[in-house]
Amino acid sequence: MYTKETEINLSQEAKALLSLLPGEGLMNDNLTDTVEALRRVIRYNDYRYYIQDDPVVSDFEYDQLFAWLKKLEKENPELKTPDSPTSRVAQGLSKNFPTVQHLVPMLSLDNSYNEDDLTDWDRKAREFAGVDELEYCIEPKFDGASISLIYENDLLTRGATRGDGVAGDDITTNIRQIRTIPLSAPFSNYGIQQIEIRGEVLINKTTFKKFNEQRMAENLPPLANPRNAASGSLRMVDPNEVAKRGLEAFLYHMSYHVMLDGQTEPEILQTHSGTLDLLYTMGFRSPAKEKIVVKGIKAVIDYVHEFESKRDDLPYEIDGMVIKVNNYDLQDKMGMTTHHPRWAIAFKFKARQATSKLRSVEFQVGRTGSITPVAKIDPVPIGGVMVGSMSLFNEDVIREKGLKKGDTVLVERAGDVIPYIVKSMADLRDGSEEDIIFPTKCPVCDHPLFKPEGESVWRCNNINCEAQVVERIIHFVSKDAMDIRSFGESNVRKFYNLGILKDVPGIYEMDFGVIGKMEGFGAKSITNLTAAIESSKSQPLHRLIFGLGIRYVGETTAKTLANAVKELTELKDYTEEQLLALEDIGPKVAGSIRQFFADPGNLDMLEKLRSLGVNLLNTQGSLSAEGTLSGQTFLFTGTLSKLKRSEAEGMVEQHGGKLLSGVSSKLNYLIVGDDAGSKLEKAKKINTIKILTEDEFIKLVEA
Ligand code: IVH
Repeated sequence: MYTKETEINLSQEAKALLSLLPGEGLMNDNLTDTVEALRRVIRYNDYRYYIQDDPVVSDFEYDQLFAWLKKLEKENPELKTPDSPTSRVAQGLSKNFPTVQHLVPMLSLDNSYNEDDLTDWDRKAREFAGVDELEYCIEPKFDGASISLIYENDLLTRGATRGDGVAGDDITTNIRQIRTIPLSAPFSNYGIQQIEIRGEVLINKTTFKKFNEQRMAENLPPLANPRNAASGSLRMVDPNEVAKRGLEAFLYHMSYHVMLDGQTEPEILQTHSGTLDLLYTMGFRSPAKEKIVVKGIKAVIDYVHEFESKRDDLPYEIDGMVIKVNNYDLQDKMGMTTHHPRWAIAFKFKARQATSKLRSVEFQVGRTGSITPVAKIDPVPIGGVMVGSMSLFNEDVIREKGLKKGDTVLVERAGDVIPYIVKSMADLRDGSEEDIIFPTKCPVCDHPLFKPEGESVWRCNNINCEAQVVERIIHFVSKDAMDIRSFGESNVRKFYNLGILKDVPGIYEMDFGVIGKMEGFGAKSITNLTAAIESSKSQPLHRLIFGLGIRYVGETTAKTLANAVKELTELKDYTEEQLLALEDIGPKVAGSIRQFFADPGNLDMLEKLRSLGVNLLNTQGSLSAEGTLSGQTFLFTGTLSKLKRSEAEGMVEQHGGKLLSGVSSKLNYLIVGDDAGSKLEKAKKINTIKILTEDEFIKLVEA
């Protein structure tokens, strides 16, 4: 849709507009140019926000640009066009899912940023409601992706994204993967036949952190916040992948409901807080425990501040609080504007940002030869942590953000974890700033760098480049690989610099006579180190494979490969087809594995490791051993009586089987415990699925 060049120009145009904002000066001193630039930038940001999940400007900045455009169009009606972003709600629909209409349009909330905003809003709200004092329900503003669910006759019948507010993507199958969303709920006990409820899908902080670490390992910029991660996850094409993302959901709004014939509305449904309690009782996660009901805006202000101070202790991200008029009759009376309900407002917390000076950029060489630019800034505290250096990921990021050495930069700690540069403040430049020049040669070995077609990362492909060798050894000994305790990064560097350690096999040939004489290496630490090295020789094969650091081969793929063979070097004869037939291996990964095993240097290294006593055999024996479950897929439903669910799932994996999270034609076995529900019904309709009792399952595994 946009070329890289246009994207960079638009990002810079956005910055130029933002720098004009304080006085709302005109671009090129020309009104038409400014209006057009605003539209271009707003449209581009909508695309980045809704489709790419990676906006170029913050919500606050977006609101300001949007308000400015609206103002200019109002003052100069001749400039208004029917396709201006102010004339419609932004498009948020993607092509992968059918479009469905919401029963009631999904409005967004008006924002407030300080006490004055809240006081003003309360005054207007009381006027519309025609009362002197309002009762408010206050709850967290979850930083995720909004969804709308429909339950009919107690069953979940549809789940959709917000989309453009009027229609969204039908993502029912993906929604069903989220464990905190009940597939059925006893609405009929309260006389309800059909109900539409809204909420937010989230990724908790720990899961988000892991997700971003994985992206960073591939030199991809991390997603700016859990919302982007959640909304991207919801729109994945494969529901099994969605299930793996560990999504959660909070439900916080009832937008529509129809009563069963002859039933009247229960009292609990007369207030918003009652609805939250009811949802909670029915098994939904709603902010029932986090909410508070108060009278008057003073108490609101106190509670939002109190909650802001607890923000870091929550397991999930919130970006503010939502204040809602509690009584539904009053809400109806107050109504809405074209964009927002008048009975609710969001109070946005301050973004965790700080400004600092960009002093220099260092270029680090990774294990696979990737060159990562790392920004060094004057250290600043952000949210209680000193931040002095952060990854810039790749050359495009530097260009897109238009960074220069000496710039004042705005830094944010995304999702509380990874600090990153949001933007440079170009208007604060004094002319002394310098361009950042990306090297053309490896900063460590001087080898010319290359960039594969279609990628944004420059690489040094000299396999003997010292930096890569050291990083490979560090990875090999690390906790998730061969787990050689007490070795660690600093010892690898030390031994390498002293010439005691040259490559991975060298770990098993080190001269402890020399090491024993070094400062800091007493008899005890030598004993520990030699014991750890010795015991790593019998680590399971998947740890060795992961430790080899083959590009794109993470822990899961390493397990798949280890399970597929009896001995590691069998992989050198695997064709691309054979690799692709393995679970979760696509062409990119297969290509990288083949490249690794085609290299005689790598095969020599494996032989050397073998001769030094390192285990190359698959001793866990899940392949073609008797009674194996390899190639078979399993799902459990209901309560098991003999095994714990985790034990049973462990047995499947140990025997080479794979767990699925939903019933589909890909499923081979459904194991049914007590009180099995809809999964069993669904599985009965697919005649290739074998339905087993717990005992039958145990027999199958033990066979
Ligand atoms: S109420 C008609 N409550 O914030 C009002 N929204 O622009 C419906 N959000 O699109 C929204 N936490 O995605 C509401 N406790 C909460 C919320 C919340 C997060 C999101 C929602 C909405 C956006 C506001």
